[in-house]
Amino acid sequence: MLEVSNLSKTYPAPSGQLSVLSNVSIAMQRGESASIMGPSGSGKSTLLYILGALEPPTSGQVFLDGDDPFTLSPRALAEFRNRAIGFVFQDHLLLPQCTVIENVLLPTLVGDPLPDGHARARDLLDRVGLSERLNYRPAELSGGEKQRVALARALIRHPPLVLCDEPTGNLDRESADTVASLLLTLHREQQTVLVVVTHNQAIADRFAQKLELRGQQLLPRGSAT
Ligand SMILES: Nc1ncnc2c1ncn2[C@@H]1O[C@H](COP(=O)(O)OP(=O)(O)OP(=O)(O)O)[C@@H](O)[C@H]1O
Ligand SMILES: [Mg+2]
Repeated sequence: MLEVSNLSKTYPAPSGQLSVLSNVSIAMQRGESASIMGPSGSGKSTLLYILGALEPPTSGQVFLDGDDPFTLSPRALAEFRNRAIGFVFQDHLLLPQCTVIENVLLPTLVGDPLPDGHARARDLLDRVGLSERLNYRPAELSGGEKQRVALARALIRHPPLVLCDEPTGNLDRESADTVASLLLTLHREQQTVLVVVTHNQAIADRFAQKLELRGQQLLPRGSAT
């Protein structure tokens, strides 16, 4: 389902090239989950963006659902991302002018129509405890509530791959635990591939594979180099 091999990523930098990822490989099947920890600047967001087909690697292969998304035309790539990938950004990126339910329905406005989109949106918002907030706007929500809206939006199209960049950053412990539990429950129910970047070790421990980015490599957490 998710298979990347020998990924490397280099960014141009004032003093030459900045190598962020080097020979990173990961393979995951449906129903599997992984957390990724690592110091600030170690490349976690960069890796997630590549897995989410938002940023091409400098070299290496990416296969999502059997296809290399980076060979698609821009339009086909956008359609693919919308259908196959649920992405929860660290700063949730909700549209401020849209209500909670409108934000959750955004991915259904493009691509194939989603039968029962409204019912699905209501159900997901109910699951994340926001059924009383359907017509609020993001500015009227707490940080944790915004994260939960972003989570519902990421899942609305039943994507086989769910990627979360610090979905519990900025949350108190209890809210972070709630969001992580929801994520895991929905992951089990829908048998997605789930990859979560987090700075919180207690949260990271709840996922089946525990990985860390260290020295540009993706390694089992705590392993000797
Ligand atoms: N578009 C870019 N152009 C140039 N350098 C970049 C770009 N994006 C990220 N970098 C650099 O790549 C490195 C890794 O960044 P990345 O955002 O992946 O780190 P991170 O592990 O997610 O950190 P954090 O925990 O702080 O979110 C950083 O040194 C950053 O400055
Ligand atoms: Mg980051």
